[in-house]
Amino acid sequence: MADKLIIFDTTLRDGEQSPGASMTRDEKLRIARQLERLRVDVIEAGFAASSNGDFEAVQAIANAIKDSTICSLSRANDRDISRAAEALKGANNARIHTFIATSALHMEKKLRMSPEQVLEQARLSVRFARNLVADVEFSPEDGYRSDVDFLCRVIEAVIAEGATTINVPDTVGYAVPELYGNFIKTLRERVPNSDKAIWSVHCHNDLGMAVANSLAGVKIGGARQVECTINGLGERAGNCSLEEIVMAVRTRKDYFNLEMNIDPVHIVAASRMVSQTTGFVVQPNKAVVGANAFAHASGIHQDGMLKARETYEIMRAEDVGWSSNKMVLGKLSGRNAFKQRLQDLGIQMESEADTNAAFARFKELADGKSEIFDEDILALVSDESVTHEKEQYGFVSLSQHSETGERPQATVVFTVDGREVRGESDGNGPVDASLKAIETHVKSGAEMVLYSVNAISGSTESQGEVTVRLQNSGRVVNGVGADPDIVVASAKAYLSALSKLQSKADRVAAQG
Ligand code: KIV
Ligand code: ZN
Repeated sequence: MADKLIIFDTTLRDGEQSPGASMTRDEKLRIARQLERLRVDVIEAGFAASSNGDFEAVQAIANAIKDSTICSLSRANDRDISRAAEALKGANNARIHTFIATSALHMEKKLRMSPEQVLEQARLSVRFARNLVADVEFSPEDGYRSDVDFLCRVIEAVIAEGATTINVPDTVGYAVPELYGNFIKTLRERVPNSDKAIWSVHCHNDLGMAVANSLAGVKIGGARQVECTINGLGERAGNCSLEEIVMAVRTRKDYFNLEMNIDPVHIVAASRMVSQTTGFVVQPNKAVVGANAFAHASGIHQDGMLKARETYEIMRAEDVGWSSNKMVLGKLSGRNAFKQRLQDLGIQMESEADTNAAFARFKELADGKSEIFDEDILALVSDESVTHEKEQYGFVSLSQHSETGERPQATVVFTVDGREVRGESDGNGPVDASLKAIETHVKSGAEMVLYSVNAISGSTESQGEVTVRLQNSGRVVNGVGADPDIVVASAKAYLSALSKLQSKADRVAAQG
């Protein structure tokens, strides 16, 4: 019988650590629900001890998600571990993931601890965590660059204390596939009690090899858990991408011979949800979830595909959630067709009131745009008017005037903690004038480090999706806004980024 490969998703923890990707509690909850639909085995929901916001997000996810195991990261100390256990109380299946660095470099320069102190702290932390939950994962941070003899001692000790999963991170993305696979194999062979735990791989993508390294850890090393994120989101060059791992193992079942719980038909919806929530656009040629991943442009390929699709296709687009016969909605589409489309896209609204708000927004959009594509629907369900998320700054209305040769003027009405205010300004262009109008009230002092506009469905009728990245006092956040009017989309994105900047103010820098 084939072994099972556990899919551990860390989009909401490691993925969120990428600059600007921080998410609100409600955004995380929405993504967690999508991960549950995808039948991810373990959802790392956050780092409960890092901030009150993260604590609440882990708690909300633990209370709401019943099928997947919910995990919180924690440093190897009693306070962090207690916070994690507290946040996870409502979970059906709870896991505490505790970590401490084991490479000489990290121990000496970052922790300023001796190897013996690290060993002792790892041992005590796992013992403490095991008294609170039955499922404890231990990670030796920078494990791949650690001395192998020392690492074996640490791992043996934490398994003896009851760690149920041993995760070996390539924290800085330094590994190459064969070496990483053999590294896991060596550890499993040398640690005397290695059979008492499940082995896991956690690879970063600095050299573009996170997926290949993880697969080598599975095939050569015998790991049976892969840690990954949707779209490969994560610090620097990101983490191992969930969609690539899952489709590699599934498509090459002949080679890997592993079973997974994942239902891949929800992959594309999860990818879009994560990209629209974080503002991290998916590159068109990204495997599995890129817009071109299943597009065939050359005549020879198209001809081959028409004769037999297997000539150029190794996976079926519809298996990962690209609809084969895309039904385009328009202003005559009724509520049932709209609800059916939400269902096909794997979107579950929180309540009937939310479905009504989404449908009203859909009708509004369809009044000005003849065809509504899946991308439009995904954007509108994330809109503040539909999610009812109480952001500090909310968009109300905008008017602007621009004429060749004249300086544009804009008036923006928006809410600050529910109270309506109006800002007016001129600017270099209509977008500049609108954002300056907002700043006349907010006076955030934030620096804009990225502004990008993307046509959601490719034509000039399309909604514009704007991403704004702001930086202030060392904090970086992304705001996303969508609207057929790109000036309005820009104002929405800017207000959303300002709200995130504010809510992030109390967060402490997370380690790891
Ligand atoms: O990359 C890393 O080392 C981590 C650990 C905290 C697991 O994310
Ligand atoms: Zn990591």
